Amino acid sequence: MPTNDAPVVLELSKVVKSFGAVIALRSGSLRLQAGSIHALIGENGAGKSTLVKIVAGLYRRDGGDFRLDGAEVDFTSTAQSKAAGVAVIYQEPTLFPDLSVTENIFMGRQLTGRFGRIDRKAMRHEVERLFTRLGVAIDPDRPAEGLSIADQQVIEIAKAVSLDAKVLIMDEPTAALSGVEVERLFTIARSLRDEGRGLIFISHRFDEVFALCDTVTVMRDGAYIATTPIADTTPADLVRQMVGRDVTELFPKQDAAIGAPLLEVENLTSPGIFHDISFTVRSGEIVGLAGLVGAGRSEVARAVFGVDGYQEGTVTMKGRRIRRGQPTEAMRAGIALVPEDRRKQGLVIESGVGRNITMAIRRQLSRFGLITTGMENRAAREWASRLEVKAHALDTVAATLSGGNQQKVVLAKWLATQPDVLIIDEPTRGIDVGTKSEVHRLLSELAGQGMGILMISSELPEVLGMADRVLVMREGRVTAEIARADATSENVMFAATHASEHAA
Ligand SMILES: Nc1ncnc2c1ncn2[C@@H]1O[C@H](COP(=O)(O)OP(=O)(O)OP(=O)(O)O)[C@@H](O)[C@H]1O
Ligand SMILES: [Mg+2]
Repeated sequence: MPTNDAPVVLELSKVVKSFGAVIALRSGSLRLQAGSIHALIGENGAGKSTLVKIVAGLYRRDGGDFRLDGAEVDFTSTAQSKAAGVAVIYQEPTLFPDLSVTENIFMGRQLTGRFGRIDRKAMRHEVERLFTRLGVAIDPDRPAEGLSIADQQVIEIAKAVSLDAKVLIMDEPTAALSGVEVERLFTIARSLRDEGRGLIFISHRFDEVFALCDTVTVMRDGAYIATTPIADTTPADLVRQMVGRDVTELFPKQDAAIGAPLLEVENLTSPGIFHDISFTVRSGEIVGLAGLVGAGRSEVARAVFGVDGYQEGTVTMKGRRIRRGQPTEAMRAGIALVPEDRRKQGLVIESGVGRNITMAIRRQLSRFGLITTGMENRAAREWASRLEVKAHALDTVAATLSGGNQQKVVLAKWLATQPDVLIIDEPTRGIDVGTKSEVHRLLSELAGQGMGILMISSELPEVLGMADRVLVMREGRVTAEIARADATSENVMFAATHASEHAA
């Protein structure tokens, strides 16, 4: 907790922002002191990112007060906000894929040497210094394209640190990080706090909020609810403030009859990415795929579904081989993949919510020439409401939804196809506590109806609560297979961070 007389670096008071008929902020307030890490929490669509974007100069407020270091400000561009010492790390990384890591970090403010020439060596040197300080091992010369979300986030953080910002805002920076990466980020955040900077940390993970922050502000429906010192509150109190009712975060899987093998993966190998991966997903079963970010889990999922190739091994669905690199064949065989990076891979950002939800079933239905607008709207409405998608209307453009609501739309899209096997990568990333248990309940219900589910998750409580069997991957290999009854956070974490006994 900063001392009470620490200066207020950022103050928002009763800030209002509308987009046409949508009121994103009714009364957003936040008071950030120097030397503080301040959590900003609330349900999906509560207005957190909108508040941040006003501070960042991306949006202009319609009303209310906004002060930096006590002086009234009204940014009309992100450049103004940056110049005033504000750095923002967004929910979605915003790197330029074609540019190198170094070029991304120095975007818009190249170091120049003699005669005003761009000093590449100096920039590269600075990046190396930053990466050493942050404990990161990324090649400064490689293009940003193809970097994992975790690495992209780290680069955004490096960029903010290099800007020497006095206010650092992180909008769900840890959503794609796990274990070691989160710890590293927290260490960096604490050292920035100790230097007297003010940090705002947005997260749906309470364990992180309690581990890192000293103060917490809760928002609901676009309005400020309360600010409390972390030491004086509990997760249950915060949930009540966020949702206005009690909710349980986890919904343990219901027992389902585990039936015949559906998806069988044997000896799948893609050199340098994953090796000798074998597993089976049976009807009614949820198989958890645990491990640290970068262990190769998403890569396996993508190969099984056919969006990426592999060199050796086989994928069989209900006894029939699926050729490599054939997602259409995988889909026809009854497999669906909900990807990790949903905004890029799962959503047509300029299309409406309803269109996005029915996109995959339209393809199915239209084969029989059956689709009508009425059917489509009914399906869209049903799935939007099952996942509690908060959108103004079915034709609301997906780009304007809050981050968590975009995640829900992509989930809805694939669940609506009612696949036999659902491969789902981080099912509740970015989803608020209220809906999280709803997603878990849905997955459990679908397994109960005979669906086989392969669930990749970096959240141990989710894996332990939902999986009938846990496969753990580390550095591209399966290091353990643990039955539900035997799975504990200790043995899963151990397998995620140690080579398997056999391999040792
Ligand atoms: N550019 C926009 N156009 C229209 N509506 C918008 C726009 N940006 C945000 N909204 C709406 O404003 C509301 C608040 O969204 P915001 O992104 O601030 O929520 P959030 O608290 O960050 O949620 P999440 O936890 O899901 O990230 C949502 O209903 C959203 O649909
Ligand atoms: Mg947001």
